[in-house]
Order: sequence, then structure tokens, then C-alpha cells
Amino acid sequence: MDRILIRGGTPLRGTIPIGGAKNAALPLMAASLLTDETLTLSNLPHLADISTMSKLIRKLGVKVSMDGDADGGGHVGRVFGLTAKDTSNTTAPYDLVRKMRASVLVLGPMLARAGRARVSLPGGCAIGTRPVDLHLQALEQLGAEIELNEGYIEARAEKGLVGGHVVFPMVTVGGTENLLMAASLAKGETVLSNAAREPEVADLAKCLVAMGATIDGIGSDTLTIQGVERLHGATHAVVPDRIETGTYAIAAAITGGELTLQGARADLSEAVIKILTSAGVEIAETSDGLHIARTNGPLQGADMMTDPYPGFPTDMQAQIMALMSVARGASMITETIFENRFMHVPELCRMGADINVHGSSAIVRGVEGLSGAQVMATDLRASVSLVLAGLAAEGETVINRIYHLDRGYERLEDKLSTCGADIRRAAE
Ligand code: UD1
Repeated sequence: MDRILIRGGTPLRGTIPIGGAKNAALPLMAASLLTDETLTLSNLPHLADISTMSKLIRKLGVKVSMDGDADGGGHVGRVFGLTAKDTSNTTAPYDLVRKMRASVLVLGPMLARAGRARVSLPGGCAIGTRPVDLHLQALEQLGAEIELNEGYIEARAEKGLVGGHVVFPMVTVGGTENLLMAASLAKGETVLSNAAREPEVADLAKCLVAMGATIDGIGSDTLTIQGVERLHGATHAVVPDRIETGTYAIAAAITGGELTLQGARADLSEAVIKILTSAGVEIAETSDGLHIARTNGPLQGADMMTDPYPGFPTDMQAQIMALMSVARGASMITETIFENRFMHVPELCRMGADINVHGSSAIVRGVEGLSGAQVMATDLRASVSLVLAGLAAEGETVINRIYHLDRGYERLEDKLSTCGADIRRAAE
């Protein structure tokens, strides 16, 4: 298994291109199952999760043609043409679903178009139990009959789905996406209340509209969908990754450096920008992205709580904790979305951080500096928080079990080393 070795202490300087959002790309790829015409997606990131989704939809009859430059960096990204002509296989098998929970996003589109779907239940996940009960309850409200058999979700709607009013008891990103796709091909009107407002949900809705769907309220917590008989092909560019943006903004801040994040959008990251600014990080919009600098002395601690969008994203909680561990004073970080998302805490403490967890809150007392250590990556965002800590630490940090990073960060070592970081990957 590969490891990442970092010698910290160098302020980063330079330009980092921001890719398309993984969490937008995955549902967009699933949306190709809704039509027999070609859905062309551009600005796709080059990530392990994209390959997993690609394998899964291929199994379900989608022809995937690739175009564009995968390794060229910059904004070239990858272009996929996705055509779902043959929808006879409607089983999403365990060996693919267990690798990536977002695989469950094929359920809504398959059920809506083919009238049946069999999708393996995603297993438990390191950051919590993460059930899919809300997806299933909501699909039942559109007339689906659902059974759980031998670890599989078996869903049927022989006569097609019928519009209805779904009130989500809690905000669910994947649940909202599954329902948006299903409702686009249901008979009549569907209203989704307490829908997720994440930019990736809005990106999916915009693509569905380009495919012929009628959706009102995009970007709000109430989505109204008028079902249509069929959807057609379209071309759509994936929204920039706000989590990659926030992560590299913290890389600039934690090393006392200065980075330009090309293609980043401030309007997608307002909650993160607000916290970083209050901590003393300078952030300015430029003609092609964001400029981040921390050149004016030490950072100040700040409190934050994760929340559904537009609140502070849970996917940035581990990274901000790494930053706050070297800020002046104390910060309280509260996690409200996932129950077990502090696995980076003991690893950061191995590097000299002073963090105490009390239930769903962590008290971070800023220390003068971190020191390099051997640490273990546990999930995607926890892994990258250790990379950030390593970039600021004195001496060498060795991060083991880094396969998580490749699920969500494209060419991480390249992007960081181009800006002066001493970081490399080594085989164990
Ligand atoms: C998505 C993101 C993930 C992010 C999360 C929250 C993708 C591919 N992944 O995950 O990176 O951390 O949103 O912003 O977009 N829940 C239930 N029952 C359900 C569904 C969810 O109890 O049927 C709970 C979950 O356990 C969790 C909360 O609801 O506590 C939010 O989960 P959800 O918004 O559904 O997250 P994902 O779509 O899985």
C-alpha cells in the first residue's frame, strides 16, 4: 500500500487548478441512465470514485466514450459521452456498491426508466452508519414497492412512478438527488420539501433541465418537478469542487503562504470563506478564481458548527481542525451531520495538536507548532487533514493507508509540489 511522505515547513506559493466536483459528477453520471440519448459531461475530475461509477453504469448498460485530456491538468478535465440504450440489466452488484456509497444514486433513475431496480445496500462506513432509509421511504411515496432481500434493495414500479409530496425529515444530499432524478420521469407533479440545497444538487437539477426536465426552485429547499415522458441528451460542465477549493485554501493558510486557486468560485464557499477570514486569512476574488494569503502573522482560533448547505460543510471539518490546531487561542468545532467524524483527532494529536472531544464537539487549543509523525488515514477528508498538518509540521510526516485520498483529490502531490511542498508518494 502506498504512503505519502511530507517534509513540512515550506510556505506554499503558486497556482493550483481546481477540478470539477466529485460529488456533482457522481449523480450526473447516474443521470445518464434516464435517457437513451447521449449525455455529455465535461470538467469531470480524474478520480478513483469516477472510475468506480463508470464501471457501475457500464454494468447497467451505459456505453461510456471518453474524450478530452485526462492528464493535462488545468481545466481540461475529462469529457465523457454516456449513452444508456440497453437498460435490461438493473442490478447494481455488491462488489461495486460496497466501494462507494454514492452507487445508490443509480436506484432512482433505473427505477424511473426501467420500472425496476436491484441495488446492493451500501455497507457501513467509517464515518457513521449512513443508512439509505430516507431514499427508500421517499421513493415509496412515489409509488415504488420496495423490499430488502439478501442485502439488496429490490424496487419495482411496473406501471411507472407517480408524483407525490415528499417531506424529508432531515436534509439528505443523496436522497434529494435520487428523488430529483426519479421524479423527472414520474407521472405528474412531485414536490420535495426540506430538500438539500448543496451546489451539487443544483448542478444536477440544471443538467436535468437541459435534458428536458421541468424543475422549479433550484437552489432552494423546495423543489417542484413536473414529470415528463422522456428525457433527451444534453451537454453539461461539472461545477467546480468547493471542497477541493477549501482544502487548498487551508494549505495556503496553514503554511503561511499564498496560492491562486484557478477556477474556484467564492459563491460556492461562503461559509468556509467567512471562517477563514475571521481567522486572519486574506481571500480575494480574481478574474479566474480566488487568491488566498496568510502573510500577516498568526491565525486566530474560531468556532464553527457543520450544517447542511449553506452552512459550514462537514466535508471541510477535518481540514479546518488541522488549521485551528496551530491558531492562537481555542476553537470549538461541532459536527452535526455524521456521528463518528472525529477519527482524525487522535492522529492530529500524535503530531502535537491539543484536541479534546466531548460528544459531538471538539475543543482545539492552538499550539505553537506541529511535529512530523507516522499517522494513519481513515477516510477521505481525515486523510487530507493529515496532509495539511504535515505541510505545516516540523520534520517528516508519513501518512499510511492513503488510498482514500485518490478517491477525492486529483494529482494531490503534483498540485502541492508545484507550489513548493516537499511531498512524495512511496510504495510500502
Ligand atoms: C453527501 C456527500 C458527502 C457529504 C454529505 C453531507 C456525495 C457523493 N457525498 O453524502 O461527501 O459529507 O453529503 O454533506 O455527495 N441519512 C439517513 N438516512 C438516509 C440518508 C441520510 O439517516 O436515507 C443521514 C446520514 O446518515 C447523515 C445525514 O443524513 O447523518 C446526511 O447524509 P446525506 O446528506 O444523505 O449524505 P450523502 O448523500 O451520503
